[in-house]
Amino acid sequence: MTIMKTLKLTACAISLTATAVAAEDVEVLHWWTSGGEAAALNVLKDDLAGNDIGWQDMPVAGGGGGSAMTVLRARVTSGNAPTAVQMLGFDITDWAKEGALADLNALAGEQNWDDVIPAALQTFAKHDGKWVSAPVNVHSTNWVWANKALMDELGIEQPQTWEDMIAAMDKAKEAGKVALAHGGQAWQDATIFDAVAMATGGPEFYKAAFVDLDEEVLGSDTMKEAFDRMATLRGYVDDNFSGRDWNLATAMVINGDALFQLMGDWAKGEFLNADKVPGEDFACFRFPGTQEQVTFNSDQFAMFSQGEGVSDEQAYLAEAILSPTFQIAFNKVKGSVPARTDLDASELDACGQQGYEDFKAASASGNLYGSMAHGHANPAAIKNAMYDVITAHFNGEYDSATAVEELVTAVQINK
Ligand code: BGC
Repeated sequence: MTIMKTLKLTACAISLTATAVAAEDVEVLHWWTSGGEAAALNVLKDDLAGNDIGWQDMPVAGGGGGSAMTVLRARVTSGNAPTAVQMLGFDITDWAKEGALADLNALAGEQNWDDVIPAALQTFAKHDGKWVSAPVNVHSTNWVWANKALMDELGIEQPQTWEDMIAAMDKAKEAGKVALAHGGQAWQDATIFDAVAMATGGPEFYKAAFVDLDEEVLGSDTMKEAFDRMATLRGYVDDNFSGRDWNLATAMVINGDALFQLMGDWAKGEFLNADKVPGEDFACFRFPGTQEQVTFNSDQFAMFSQGEGVSDEQAYLAEAILSPTFQIAFNKVKGSVPARTDLDASELDACGQQGYEDFKAASASGNLYGSMAHGHANPAAIKNAMYDVITAHFNGEYDSATAVEELVTAVQINK
């Protein structure tokens, strides 16, 4: 690697201080703090360590990254931006608009990113013709994770429809199990809503509501029906769901206490981290009614300008992230699929292979949609306003008719 040669030479000439971020370190702000996420992050840390680049860890716990983004704002405001930041969709665009991100075009050109990274990711990774972030993966939110032994024991087949889903959860409830493992946090409620809205109204409805922010669609009877389905799901969670972290909800499925979890495929990282095998110990399938669609989000590392252009360490980090071997090694552990479409996916497990194929097929057939819950459908201000409505409704503060009205208002105020 050309950049590495330069780095190793300069590294010898730079003296380190114990407290400050050393010149050849990268400081990485991220929210990968669960067991499965940390295992995936280690793949990246090891890669860098193998090339003499130190890692300054800046973890900010909180699924979906809301807290991480608050910490980031404070760091940048105080003139102390981290080197690299895990970021989603519209957040990348917002920071790029502020001129805070380094230009990665030289590296991207050398490594041909234009040809190997799908357009849906380039929409966020590029701004004004400049590459400003390095895509690590593609996740999608419209998955169901199921305990296989429990399905077998209760005679449950993979649900194909909403009605099948309800019938399966009824069986679990009757057997004294938790039907739906869920954590009552706004971003988790919204993650479920991605799939429920897509299944209820279909892809055109989803796009009109969350991407185009069409007020008529946001205020429609179909949206009310989506909220009604959320209220139905609320009847299948346990009494202690409030505030629970997503990975603890996954653990309930892993342990056989709960039948299903509706969650992005980072949940698979938890199953793998617990040595569970897809198809044997757990099942993964698309939320019924969204079998053709993919609501995606992509973790990317945005590089904050540290003075003059992109530093050697930032360039190396970006180069390492996009390397084919890293893409496979990392995504195998993380639960996501590669951010490049030119790789041999045979090393991925069954869920991963399905995810990679689904992503490519949805991309080709126009069935790929940015996840509202994970910042790929609309900017943070609108997303957060939607979170508030979805979560208030899930907790019984509004009925579905009121939730629909509040959703329209939330968008009007924040557009
Ligand atoms: C990120 C995932 C992460 C999940 C839970 C999502 O927004 O894209 O990488 O695992 O949040 O923390």
